Amino acid sequence: MAILNIRELGDPVLRTEAKKVEEITAKTAKLLDDMVETMYDAQGVGLAAPQIGISKQIIVIDIGQGVIELINPEIVESSDRTYIDQEGCLSIPEQSGDVERAYQVKVEALNRDGEEIELEGKGLLARVLQHEIDHLAGKLFIDY
Ligand code: NI
Repeated sequence: MAILNIRELGDPVLRTEAKKVEEITAKTAKLLDDMVETMYDAQGVGLAAPQIGISKQIIVIDIGQGVIELINPEIVESSDRTYIDQEGCLSIPEQSGDVERAYQVKVEALNRDGEEIELEGKGLLARVLQHEIDHLAGKLFIDY
């Protein structure tokens, strides 16, 4: 495993739409392992592949309930109910701000075995899912 360099605001990769993963290989598994290690090293709760310079639709999350690894994640349902809370980003050090997000989302994705999975998150998990999936579209929390 390896700790990867986290790209910061100003790096064009953060503003690029990430490509879908067409084939899950041993390289994908290694990338997921490295992303998880990098996220823990940086004490983050989520990391998207563009943040380590790889423009692919891959995110990892751990809000203290174990690792979630999502490939090609897509939000398929969002609650009308929203809430505002402070948000930060490993790519935008020392900045935080209030962001309004859906309180609950449902996400469809692939796991590292290429199986289709569905995940529902509320509160913080829903927030982190939305934040990380935004990264895949080149969107950052400061845009809100
Ligand atoms: Ni971020």
